[in-house]
Amino acid sequence: MNQGSILFLSVFGAMALSWGGFVMLPQVQLGSQSTRVVKEIGRHYPAERGGLAERGRDIYRAAGCVSCHTQQVRQSGYEFDLVLTKAGDFTELVTSLVSQANTSLTPQETAAIVGNAPTTILEGVGKSEVDRVLHLFKDSGAKVAANIRPLGPDIERGWGPRQTVGLDYLFDQPVLLGSQRIGPDLVDVGSRLTDRKWHLLHLYHPHTVQEGSIMPAYPYLFETKKILSGPSSDALALEGDFSPPEGMEVVPTPEANALVDYLLSLRIQNPVFEAPYMFTQDQGSDDNNSQMEQPE
Ligand code: HEC
Repeated sequence: MNQGSILFLSVFGAMALSWGGFVMLPQVQLGSQSTRVVKEIGRHYPAERGGLAERGRDIYRAAGCVSCHTQQVRQSGYEFDLVLTKAGDFTELVTSLVSQANTSLTPQETAAIVGNAPTTILEGVGKSEVDRVLHLFKDSGAKVAANIRPLGPDIERGWGPRQTVGLDYLFDQPVLLGSQRIGPDLVDVGSRLTDRKWHLLHLYHPHTVQEGSIMPAYPYLFETKKILSGPSSDALALEGDFSPPEGMEVVPTPEANALVDYLLSLRIQNPVFEAPYMFTQDQGSDDNNSQMEQPE
């Protein structure tokens, strides 16, 4: 074989391998996903954002929010809480098992755990400890559950209850993952900041709600206009340096409202098969009614 064809083949091989790795494999793994029923919330997940929120996403893109904000929560691993969910009938046996499971308990604490089930026996333990304890309680008549708790800096910062996975972005085209974190991650911002008025003030000028913020202001998403017959119901409650001149008021444009609808629609509040965690109903409560839900 002459030099030319060796060169051609190696370049072709390198290209083919990277195409396989970056295009084909992800397509095989993730390309055929569709919504599925998540039993913890009893409905299909994810839901389309719907109307205004969808429009708000375009404004998010146009304003360049993605240059400072990511939308991806990462996770470094799991730990478990072991909970005695049912004490069963053999109190003496179960009491001794609980004290074997967690040797640092006093006899009073052990009795309280058995007497008041469901109660936590051990917190923040690894998989091998889970296996040991579950084995202990086998055939004891008592029930022990291992509740999954995701770990990692993003989770500790409160940016989401679990890592994000491909399914979460099913309806996002393009996906706005972002790569720089000048500001906090926003993939679950709709469940930590639920107040529409807060978001509007923050967008008008971050210093109205967040002293010393380095986020830019977006005054062009608002209109300063004359108060006519009376103040508008959606006028911003601005104070001090930010208050508009006498007789004027600042109202959000439809773009600002759409952007806030989008921010409020950013919520990751349920486990999925690929990213499980201990889910309790009250975490999933729908406390902002501006979020659009897909009709069932
Ligand atoms: C130059 C970088 C930068 C840009 C561009 C930017 N932000 Fe921010 N953002 C920040 C910083 C820094 C913070 C944290 C301080 C604060 O709350 O103002 C923040 C905070 C936020 C918060 C509050 C998040 C929380 O958990 O407290 C929201 C919501 C937000 N930004 C939305 C937006 C939107 C929407 C846009 C585009 C219109 C945008 N940001 C553009 C830097 C930026």
